[in-house]
Amino acid sequence: MNDLPPPSSLAHTAVIVVAAGSGTRLAAGAPKAFVPLCGRAILEHALDGVFAAAPAQVILVVPAGLESDARTILEAAQTTFTGREMPPSEVRSDNPRPASDEGAPVVAVIVGGETRQRSVAAGLAVLADGIDTVLVHDAARALTPPAQFAAVSAAVRPGVGVIPALPVVDTLKRVHGEEVVAPVDRSELAAAQTPQGFPRTELVAAYGHAEAQGIEYTDDAALFAAAGGAVRHVLGSEEAFKITTPHDLERARMILTSSAVPDGPAIPRIGIGTDVHAFAPGGTLRLAGLDWPGEPALEGHSDGDAVAHAIVDALLGAAGLGDIGQHFGTAHPEYAGAHGDVFLARTAEILAEGGFAIGNVSVQFQGNRPRFSARRAEAERVLSEALGGAPVAVSATTTDGLGFPGRGEGIAVTAVALVHPIALG
Ligand code: CTP
Ligand code: MG
Repeated sequence: MNDLPPPSSLAHTAVIVVAAGSGTRLAAGAPKAFVPLCGRAILEHALDGVFAAAPAQVILVVPAGLESDARTILEAAQTTFTGREMPPSEVRSDNPRPASDEGAPVVAVIVGGETRQRSVAAGLAVLADGIDTVLVHDAARALTPPAQFAAVSAAVRPGVGVIPALPVVDTLKRVHGEEVVAPVDRSELAAAQTPQGFPRTELVAAYGHAEAQGIEYTDDAALFAAAGGAVRHVLGSEEAFKITTPHDLERARMILTSSAVPDGPAIPRIGIGTDVHAFAPGGTLRLAGLDWPGEPALEGHSDGDAVAHAIVDALLGAAGLGDIGQHFGTAHPEYAGAHGDVFLARTAEILAEGGFAIGNVSVQFQGNRPRFSARRAEAERVLSEALGGAPVAVSATTTDGLGFPGRGEGIAVTAVALVHPIALG
């Protein structure tokens, strides 16, 4: 897919994103497009690919009752990709204004039907003027690359619809009950994906034809072919798989979190955190989750536990979930004066919510005091407990009298953490 047309080739193309299904097989307690995937709805991921392809119109077809949620998601995607906020009046279901060749696409949210075919038909009814090519796309194929939209759209011709498809890799058998009846020649077969693209006028006519016949077709290409259209295929992509079952959702999550090898093993991620605090007169030192009577305290917005703070940054960094300032800083007065173990426990929760388990943490501080080795095991146990049991190793070193730790002005800490993507229930 290297010789792709420029994005401007979608200047007269509309994408109908069908997201009105109930997701029975996923069974995740909400209509499938609204099920969370790495902290965002499946639909939000799907719209990333759609808007990145820069079509002239985006029509989003959703279950009744979820129009307002869908509008919020659509407007956010619109703003992210075009840098332009849409006035609410432009996110509407009726009488869409003509598609323009420049700027943000026209968008619409409408309610779908009982079947996918009816949902697509509802989308076709609000095509804008000036659209000549229609791509019909399953929201459930949430990770479809933008280039796939461009490749399909570019191949559409008068009288010719286009589907992305992948060769079938498994050895196939025709079966009857428990009996294997015959082998099937897989070289004749391909697995169809979306978006499927068609010339507008002919697709609308084909839908009219199907409605008159009262026939439900397996996909838009079959419906188009039944009305006499030709259908060609271009190469699809592994990432455009349809999220149908809980296993598919897990596969999508693995791809998003490993950001490397689709379908490969979940790759652990590493993070680093540092923290420095100055000693302050008065108070009692709090470090590595322990009180140190007789030692000077460290300054800080919270308890000044630089070891705990460095661990928090290492963990959040490893998971790509922000940093300590974002989650616990001055914008969160509820954490003023809080102990480091409160930060650690909350950080473990943030990671779990984001789909990460903690592998291990290693942390070292530089400072002349406190004398640490006698309490190492105690500190490691307390820090590990605060993180829900993940192993934590703590060490201390002096700096040969050099720098601020060597002059006894404060403590510098470095932490590294390893985290693993996990299945979100
Ligand atoms: N779809 C739709 N309207 C319907 C049925 C399906 O818009 N009445 C959409 C789905 O939202 C999905 C796509 O068509 O994006 C493909 O359908 P499928 O994967 O079967 O999704 P669901 O029908 O939601 O799932 P299930 O069949 O497991 O209930
Ligand atoms: Mg279905």
